[in-house]
Amino acid sequence: MKTFDDIQISRPQLAKAYLAMLQSQLGRPIALFAPRRIGKTYFLHNDLTPIATKEGVLPVYADLWLQRGFPLEAINYALETALDDVTVPSGAVGRIAKTPVKAIAGVQFGEEPQRRPLPEKAELRFDALIVKLAKASGKRILLMLDEIQALATASNGDAIMASIRAVLSNRKNEVCAVFTGSSQDALSQIMSSVGAPMYQFAQILDFPFLDDDYLQLLIGHFKSVHIKKSIDLADLRKAFEYIGYKPELIKDIVKEMSAEGSEDVEFALRKFITSEKQTTGWNANFYALPTLEQTMLVVLSHGLAPMAKDTLAALTRASGEMVTISKVRAALDRLRKAGVLAKSEGIYLIEDKLFSGYISRTNTLKHVQGDKKKLPTK
Ligand SMILES: Nc1ncnc2c1ncn2[C@@H]1O[C@H](COP(=O)(O)OP(=O)(O)OP(=O)(O)O)[C@@H](O)[C@H]1O
Ligand SMILES: [Mg+2]
Repeated sequence: MKTFDDIQISRPQLAKAYLAMLQSQLGRPIALFAPRRIGKTYFLHNDLTPIATKEGVLPVYADLWLQRGFPLEAINYALETALDDVTVPSGAVGRIAKTPVKAIAGVQFGEEPQRRPLPEKAELRFDALIVKLAKASGKRILLMLDEIQALATASNGDAIMASIRAVLSNRKNEVCAVFTGSSQDALSQIMSSVGAPMYQFAQILDFPFLDDDYLQLLIGHFKSVHIKKSIDLADLRKAFEYIGYKPELIKDIVKEMSAEGSEDVEFALRKFITSEKQTTGWNANFYALPTLEQTMLVVLSHGLAPMAKDTLAALTRASGEMVTISKVRAALDRLRKAGVLAKSEGIYLIEDKLFSGYISRTNTLKHVQGDKKKLPTK
C-alpha cells in the first residue's frame, strides 16, 4: 500500500451472502438502502460483480440516473451493451468472423433468416433483452439497478416498477436483481409514489457501513509514515460516526493529519468541517435557495417542527412573506425532491448531517425568531 488512496476494503463475504439470498428466493430482488457516499456503487462494481462472475452469473450494472426521467431506457442500454459483449467478439478476427458472407465464387446466397428485431416499446424490449441475453450467455443475469429511487421521480415510475416486477417474477430463471438506493427517504418515496408492490416485492436490507477494518488500515498507513506517532482507534471511530460513515471523508481527514503530522483526531475533524473547501460548497447550496427554503433549513437544523404554530409565525417574520401550512408543505416537498431533506417516520431531516450542523452553527435561531426581517445573506 503506497498511499491513503490505495486503501480499499473488499467485502466478498457480503457479496456472497447477497448472492446466496438471491438464489434462494428466485424472483424476489434485494433492495439495499444507505445514505449517500457510503460505498454502494463501489460495492456493486468491486465486490458483487467479481463474485457473481466467479459463480457463473452474468452481472449487468445500470445507473438509473444515467438518463434522467428515462430509467427503463438506462436499463435497456445496459442490457444491450452486455448483449453486444456476449454476441460480438472483440478484436479484428472476431469482427471478420461475424461479417456475413453473401457471395462465394459468384454463387449468391439468400439472406439468412433474421430473427424478429427487438420490440421498440421500452417495457417489451426490457423483457425481450433479458430473455435474449440469458440465452446468448447461457447464464442467469444479475441485474444491478443503482439509484432505484429515480423511479420515484420519473413521470411513469409506477408503470416501470410494474414492468420490472413482472419481468423479474416471470423470468426468474433468467434473471435476479439487486436494487440500491440512497437517502433515508428513498424507501418511503418509492413506497408512496410507486406504490406498495415494491415494498412487498423486494427484500429491503440496510447496507452495512465500513467498519474498524477500514479505520485500522488508515491508522496503519499513518503509522508507516509517522513511525513514532499513532491515531487512537476510538477517536477515529467517533469521527467516522460523526461524518456519517463516509469513507472518502474520513480518509481526507486522516490524510490531512498525516500531512501535518498531527495525532489529534478531534482537532482535524473540527478543522475539516470548518475548512473553506467544505463551507464554500455548503454556502453555495444554501444561498442558492429561496429565502423561505433557507429559513426552513435553519428551523429544521435546530430541530423545530416545521408546521408548528410558533414556527409558522417565525417563518413569516423571517421570510417577509405570509407563511401558511400549505406554503411550508410545498417548500418541504421541493427540498425533498432536491434531495436536501429526507422524511423519516414522519419527521423531516436535513439529509446531510454535516450540512445541517453547518447551518445551525452559522444561523442561530435568533435569525428566525428575532426581529430581523431576513436571514443574513452573503
Ligand atoms: N470498500 C471501500 N473501500 C475503500 N473506499 C471505499 C469503499 N467503498 C467506498 N469507498 C470510497 O467512498 C467513495 C464513495 O463510494 P460510492 O460512490 O460507492 O458511494 P455511494 O454510496 O454509491 O454514493 P452515492 O449515493 O453518492 O451514489 C468512493 O469513491 C471511494 O473512495
Ligand atoms: Mg452510488
